[in-house]
Amino acid sequence: MRYDVSRIRALLEQRKPGHTLPQAFYRDPEFHEFDLDAIFGRRWLFAGLEIDLPKPTGYVTLKIGRSSVVLVRAADGQIRGFFNTCRHRGAEICQETQGRVGRLVCPYHQWTYGLDGQLLAAGGMPADFDKSSHGLKPIHLEVVAGTIFICLADSPPDFAPIKEGFEPLLAPHQLAEAKIAHEATIVEKGNWKLVMENARECYHCHARHPELMKCFPDIPKKKHRTDEPATTAFIEACEAKGLPTGPFIHEGFEANRFALRGGARSFTLDGQPAVKKLLGNVGDGNIGSLRFALDPNSFAHAVGDYAFLFWCWPKGPEETLVHMKWVVNKDAVEGADYDLARLTQLWQTTNDQDLWLVENNQRGVNSEGYQSGPYSPENERTLIQFTDWYVTQARRALS
Ligand code: FES
Ligand SMILES: [Fe+2]
Repeated sequence: MRYDVSRIRALLEQRKPGHTLPQAFYRDPEFHEFDLDAIFGRRWLFAGLEIDLPKPTGYVTLKIGRSSVVLVRAADGQIRGFFNTCRHRGAEICQETQGRVGRLVCPYHQWTYGLDGQLLAAGGMPADFDKSSHGLKPIHLEVVAGTIFICLADSPPDFAPIKEGFEPLLAPHQLAEAKIAHEATIVEKGNWKLVMENARECYHCHARHPELMKCFPDIPKKKHRTDEPATTAFIEACEAKGLPTGPFIHEGFEANRFALRGGARSFTLDGQPAVKKLLGNVGDGNIGSLRFALDPNSFAHAVGDYAFLFWCWPKGPEETLVHMKWVVNKDAVEGADYDLARLTQLWQTTNDQDLWLVENNQRGVNSEGYQSGPYSPENERTLIQFTDWYVTQARRALS
């Protein structure tokens, strides 16, 4: 065991509900190992988009803790996931983060796998060697309306309720037929829980994100949306356009469509759409935002003209890899239908601000003076939920 179970158990017992976690959870290498096992090794994780692998033979690799996994689209069009580990002596097979391959060939002794994971060739092995029992180890993978979710556990939690509840909300946005206008990857010097806590609350938004708050509403004060008459009218208008509004909530997953502030139609600096061609079957595009978020590692917003997706992987106790993607209509042409700087400006600015907030939070949490602090029940409902969810998963893993 790479971590001391009794120490983690003791600190879980000391944890005060409604408060931030004890310091070790945010910075101790042993607790990082625990998170890789208890959370990232067992839960469903957001892992990208179908259009990351637009054609058969496309692949992407992801590094989740110590494990590299490869997602690959085979000739049958289906996307599958495997541990990126050769069944011969364990070498890593795919080296790049993204590419095209006809076969998965291990660079060590050239064992060769099909894109369905089957071992096709293993030169020099005895004639009676059973190739069929040496295929790549699969991981569980689900595609929902163009988004990809994976689980590394042998027996994953039931994904069917999420798929069933979420698909009708996301499907009209047609992410499977969209195009990636821009993507960025950054390393934040902060524990993944600080990255996600920061991404889950908007208590800091008025002070730290003046640009975002021109269009982001003050919603969730213990709720998913306000009770104002305008909210009811918004929901009715969306439903009339064939866009369900939710909320749909299931074990660490949440999806909810809400109106933007002050009549804004998109997440841009002036609240006006950044892309002339709308994304998906979204009527006039004045549809607020469908926000969806999965614990432990992602959130996203789909507005009428684009979708923004954010997800992360823990790299170390105080280091997190963050992915961001901006997705638009597949026929939208840069320069003609949208200006890339205008499209990306709001979330890029917001994420630059958040990067500083996360790293600053980590610096303060590392202090000898750090003590667990109280969340605001009014403004940090989602963080109380997040840490409760985390503690529940942690206890489950230790039971
Ligand atoms: S380790 Fe892959 S072929 Fe030998
Ligand atoms: Fe923020």
